[in-house]
Amino acid sequence: MERPRHLGLWLLLLSATGSGLLLRWYSGYSSRALEPRDGRACSSSLDLALQRRPRLRRQLNLSIQVLLWGGLFTQELWDHLSQRGGPYGWQGLSRETIASTLGLLNDSESSELFAVPKGRGPGCIRCAVVGNGGILNGSRQGQNIDAHDYVFRLNGAVIEGFEKDVGNKTSFYGFTVNTVKGSLLSYRALGFTSVPQGQALRYIFIPADIRDYVMLRSAILGVTVPEGRDRGDNPQIYFGPDASAGKFKLLHPDFIHYVTERFLTPRWIHRTIGDQYMPSTGALVLLTALHTCDQVSAYGFITRNYKKFSNHYFDRSNKALVFYLNHDLLLEAALWRKLHKAGIIWLYQR
Ligand SMILES: *[C@@H]1O[C@H](CO)[C@@H](O)[C@H](O)[C@H]1NC(C)=O
Ligand SMILES: *[C@@H]1O[C@H](CO)[C@@H](O)[C@H](O)[C@H]1NC(C)=O
Ligand SMILES: *[C@@H]1O[C@H](CO)[C@@H](O)[C@H](O)[C@H]1NC(C)=O
Ligand SMILES: *[C@@H]1O[C@H](CO)[C@@H](O)[C@H](O)[C@H]1NC(C)=O
Repeated sequence: MERPRHLGLWLLLLSATGSGLLLRWYSGYSSRALEPRDGRACSSSLDLALQRRPRLRRQLNLSIQVLLWGGLFTQELWDHLSQRGGPYGWQGLSRETIASTLGLLNDSESSELFAVPKGRGPGCIRCAVVGNGGILNGSRQGQNIDAHDYVFRLNGAVIEGFEKDVGNKTSFYGFTVNTVKGSLLSYRALGFTSVPQGQALRYIFIPADIRDYVMLRSAILGVTVPEGRDRGDNPQIYFGPDASAGKFKLLHPDFIHYVTERFLTPRWIHRTIGDQYMPSTGALVLLTALHTCDQVSAYGFITRNYKKFSNHYFDRSNKALVFYLNHDLLLEAALWRKLHKAGIIWLYQR
């Protein structure tokens, strides 16, 4: 997706609306801002925020390829990615499995997160990313969340019974096979009885392991998983009966590497566990949204006062936040605070 990236010229426009006078910034070169979809433009722009933060502007590469698809699969890519282990690469993974999976994601729709409807110009894409943090319990943010163009959820995203707090719309659901199966086991009794499904919903596979490629391939083919740790699983149980290639998106290992290097380099304690470290699913989904949407609101992500809240919004009794050894949630918390302060994302806090 093309995004406005020119930072040079800014026009201040005044527009009168039914509800009064709105003051808006438009990037002079940005076709998206000047031809807003549905007549809307971003009322505060990522570009503007970045203009004031040269360091963050250098850190954030909005041209980075977020998704991996068949069109990118070359010998060069294989040589490059087979030097790094998962989730940053393909070291030790079967080339045949990866090639056959990517061969099924060989349509340009697999290269983009959003399908831009034909004949409609680009507009302001507003996204809500909903983490599962206890801060959402009693938050009454459901309507605000659902008002976004796209709603991203992940892992044990319980919706039923929590609509007032977390909304009921899901456009994208992000996971690794490990985290989704873990969530179904751990949170079933708390209401996470199935992966969110729906006609318009898309799944974002985070390729941490070969099993993610194997599951993805089986899901598209509509067959039982033939090999590996998930052998015998029926992907339809997770993704519903009409799971064709268009339903799935796959994060690019280079994107995971880039966000880790630039934003979430582990502190020493996590470096000691070496290859086990990776950003949390929530962090990867939030950073995916940041690199594809024009505006991002983050709900249910870790805040400075996380100790005031239970681990998850759907907990039945108060549970402390669990710090997994393979993630660095405090580092992530500091990043969300920094991006919020810089106006790059909006972080729900209370
Ligand atoms: C941003 O990413 C694109 C695509 O990978 C790359 O070509 C470009 O050099 C990167 N720009 C910067 C400033 O890192
Ligand atoms: C994708 O399709 C093109 C054209 O048919 C083909 O050359 C290429 O090998 C395919 N890519 C993969 C990964 O199968
Ligand atoms: C969400 O709730 C609204 C009303 O509260 C309802 O109209 C809509 O169908 C629901 N959407 C989903 C995906 O359940
Ligand atoms: C959720 O919030 C309610 C009050 O809104 C509170 O009584 C309950 O204990 C909270 N649940 C957890 C698990 O903290």
